[in-house]
Amino acid sequence: MARVAIVTGGTRGIGEAISLALKDAGMTVAANYGGDDAKAKAFTERTGIAAYKWNVGDHQACLDGVKQVEADLGPVDVVVNNAGITRDGTLMKMTYEAWDEVIRVNLGGCFNMAKATFAGMRSRGFGRVVNIGSINGQAGQYGQVNYAAAKSGIHGFTKALAQEGAKFGITVNAIAPGYIDTDMVAAVPADVLEKIVAKIPAGRLGQASEIARGVVFLTGDDAGFVNGSTLSINGGQHMY
Ligand code: CAA
Repeated sequence: MARVAIVTGGTRGIGEAISLALKDAGMTVAANYGGDDAKAKAFTERTGIAAYKWNVGDHQACLDGVKQVEADLGPVDVVVNNAGITRDGTLMKMTYEAWDEVIRVNLGGCFNMAKATFAGMRSRGFGRVVNIGSINGQAGQYGQVNYAAAKSGIHGFTKALAQEGAKFGITVNAIAPGYIDTDMVAAVPADVLEKIVAKIPAGRLGQASEIARGVVFLTGDDAGFVNGSTLSINGGQHMY
């Protein structure tokens, strides 16, 4: 039986590349999305991957969403917590709402999805959780106290949950992408982005497929001894 994987934020950007790569690796994939119905529909038509709408920042919505995926596709073996948003601004300008929303979606989403799937993984003796952190959670980033805190939190969450899952055949790992060629990075002001790219030893932005490659590795049946690790994929921008 093919393993069933959920990729949150799985219809666009890095998430889309992950959904496609896990499908190519032989998994049955459910791509969660939070907002854009038209883009999700186009994604399903293009890829044949089912898309499911819920907000990962909403605890009950995650419980209900996973229940629906399991009813449609079977028990979930693999969760990739990829959904993330930015609400950049210096602390002086950042509203409480911009802080709260980013923490709730980016970090809370990992908790919510783990709560929805961990018991099943434990009972079946197998699970793979991959949390998408960020170089900006490792190194910090001017204008991102919310995002950097959430992503940094993801790295701690990963190491704690890895210890809880290990004896049940569940691994929990993180990937820390650098600056990847996606809509999120395209939203960074051009002059700021230019300065960032100048600091990447590879001399370019990363590709979403280069993150997906890491996810395929970490979710493989043969990756059971890789646990609690963070794989940095950032063109050498930050060596952690
Ligand atoms: N270090 C030091 N100072 C900086 C700075 C930096 N990196 N960036 C900006 N500043 C300074 C500016 O020089 C300016 O100083 P003065 O007032 O003395 O001239 C001051 O901060 C204000 O800068 P801005 O005019 O740019 O202020 P703003 O409020 O309009 O915007 C900002 C601030 C929102 C932080 C904007 O600079 C920005 O969007 N920066 C990019 C943040 C970023 O990299 N986000 C990553 C998004 S992609 C992502 O998150 C994916 C991932 O995981 C990698």
